Amino acid sequence: MEPCALAPTAAFSTAEREAVYRAIFTRRDVRSQFLPDPVPDEVLARVLTAAHHAPSVGFMQPWSFLVLRSLALRQRLHGHFLKANAEAATLFAGERGDKYRSFKLEGLVEAPVALCITCDPDRAGPVVLGRTHDPAMDRYSTVCAVQNLWLAARTEGLGVGWVSIIEPKALVAELGLPERVVPVALLCLGFVREAWREPELAAKGWRKRLDAAEVLHFDGWGGAETAGGSLTAAMQAGIEAVKNGAGQAGM
Ligand SMILES: Cc1cc2nc3c(=O)[nH]c(=O)nc-3n(C[C@H](O)[C@H](O)[C@H](O)COP(=O)(O)O)c2cc1C
Repeated sequence: MEPCALAPTAAFSTAEREAVYRAIFTRRDVRSQFLPDPVPDEVLARVLTAAHHAPSVGFMQPWSFLVLRSLALRQRLHGHFLKANAEAATLFAGERGDKYRSFKLEGLVEAPVALCITCDPDRAGPVVLGRTHDPAMDRYSTVCAVQNLWLAARTEGLGVGWVSIIEPKALVAELGLPERVVPVALLCLGFVREAWREPELAAKGWRKRLDAAEVLHFDGWGGAETAGGSLTAAMQAGIEAVKNGAGQAGM
């Protein structure tokens, strides 16, 4: 007889649940606090394995993981960042521009390793279960892999920073990507001495986390919660609790 292929899916214990939420609430985008210590292969393997277990449309697993250890390569990528960042800075005027220029928005050289996570739209042939009516689904799948990696990295004491301020064409050329392959995420990764308790952009007054009421809609865009409903208030309480340090014990 076939062994049963279904596994039980009971809720986690309280401690297990808290650990997962702690990873979510204390994950940060890191660009300044990297330690130079190398990331052992077994640790890198664990976070990449987590990434490889992300959901994907039609189970196509469109991702590839390029491990970028060469300092010379990362220095060249840093050069491309500097060029793109100078262009981006011109889009913010006055004080906002000064603030933008004060931010450090990558850690490509300080971190011991970078990763480029790519999406191959041809990974599972031209017709993919679930992708027919929205071809972007393969990129969304790749982003799920990024998020798995980001959270797994947090549990390992590793910081991850996403570097999007770079011309995709420069990445394609530097990494020799085949024409069909799309670079989705350039990440720097390494152990960190400390991390911001809230998003650095919030701590530095660039943008605030939105309230529950600004992101929740009921039964269609703009729909209000029915009288007596408690979801908005409960989610807002959750946001406040995180802001006040829930999930940050031991940071
Ligand atoms: C798609 C994406 C691209 C990003 N690109 C950059 C970037 O180029 N430089 C940077 O410093 N942060 C980048 N970030 C990080 C965001 O600024 C950060 O996630 C946000 O401010 C919230 O902070 P947190 O991730 O620490 O919670 C990026 C994040 C995402 C999801």
